[in-house]
Amino acid sequence: MHKNIWQPFTILKGTPDPLKVKSGKGAYLTLADDRKVLDCISSWWVNLHGHAHPDIAKAVYEQAQKLEHVIFAGFTHDPAEQLAERITSKLPKSLNRVFYSDNGSTAVEVALKVSYQYWQNVGENRTTFICFDGAYHGDTLGAMSVGERGNFFADTFNDLLFDVEVIPFPETWIGDPDRAKKEDAVIEQLENLLDENPEKYAGIVMEPLIQGAGGMRMCSEEFMQKLHWVNRQFDVLLILDEVMTGFGRTGDYFACLKSQVEPDIICLSKGVTGGFTPLAATVCSDHIYETFNTDDPIKTFWHAHSYTGNPIGCAAGIASWDLLLEAEQRFKGMEQIHFKNVERIKDHPKLKNARVKGTIAAVDIINDEADGYYNSIANKIKKECIDLGYLFRPLGNAFYLMPPYCVTESEIDGMYDALLELVDN
Ligand SMILES: Cc1ncc(COP(=O)(O)O)c(C=O)c1O
Repeated sequence: MHKNIWQPFTILKGTPDPLKVKSGKGAYLTLADDRKVLDCISSWWVNLHGHAHPDIAKAVYEQAQKLEHVIFAGFTHDPAEQLAERITSKLPKSLNRVFYSDNGSTAVEVALKVSYQYWQNVGENRTTFICFDGAYHGDTLGAMSVGERGNFFADTFNDLLFDVEVIPFPETWIGDPDRAKKEDAVIEQLENLLDENPEKYAGIVMEPLIQGAGGMRMCSEEFMQKLHWVNRQFDVLLILDEVMTGFGRTGDYFACLKSQVEPDIICLSKGVTGGFTPLAATVCSDHIYETFNTDDPIKTFWHAHSYTGNPIGCAAGIASWDLLLEAEQRFKGMEQIHFKNVERIKDHPKLKNARVKGTIAAVDIINDEADGYYNSIANKIKKECIDLGYLFRPLGNAFYLMPPYCVTESEIDGMYDALLELVDN
């Protein structure tokens, strides 16, 4: 470890030193010792178009020479406006108001605060959020409150987190015979909660279709539609955290489109700039925005970050968005390539619960340890994959692929070959 750096998400003693990366080009990273690795996880799920894409680099360079930053209260600029127009052009019609912030956690914090205040603005006292077991929404305290508890990430801070209602996430996989039964049970539980206490709940917070950090757990589009129906029936806000699923990841521009649901709020970050700069957006429906659209300071949303709407970030976002439009066939077609490969691994005796959604595929590795984040297979794979020329980062025994959209079919085939080699040895 470098003497001046505190690495994030890292047990400081006993963990191998981080690998130094010299450069990146397309889907490949070059390490300090000149080894090349194929980035199969888009570097913490942000890199949509490959590393150092020249179009985004150019947009960043040109914007930096024009206007690097300006206070975003009382001032605005073209990149912020143009990026908001682009993003909302593909979202469901009612989602029109973009509130910028810096990262996935702040996108969620903003969504929670907006929802909470929304109910006050309309004269109701709804204060409790409903969320899903296994969820991950970020590492700030509000985002942690609506995320999974009972693990050593959250336990330390338990007293600082606010109370929520947790319902099960109906995770499913290819060939799961119990999908509909699990979904119906969750919907029934949710309906009962809302029925018993309709004035209590401010919103349902969810990672649509795929819980990322929780182990790439997937649910069905049908479940999303049932959830949407309940949310409309009981007039509770639906907040979709698309920090990971946004920008093509599920095989459509956004998971809400793939699932054909219209949330009240959607949280975006990660892929928004294609991995060039931190940026986030919380997009709210007109209906929510209008309750804040008054001259009453009490009904105003008093929230901002210094880098809110940063022009360089927005310029990167515009360039990345334009590349996303060009990549539509690739991100829509990746699902079939995953399915083709999953066919050859799904019955492997050391693999189970294969699942695919758009550009993301996952499978659980079987060993003699319990499933979950603490399974030590992750450390073995993280170490050995580099020698094979791949960057994998399993979540415990949940092995997943989430490559940038520039990878070729044969590169994806190679990722599955590498997985087989790793589990067989
Ligand atoms: C669904 C989801 N929400 C929120 C976050 C938090 O984002 P950030 O790490 O940018 O704060 C993540 C990060 O992995 C995520 O996957």
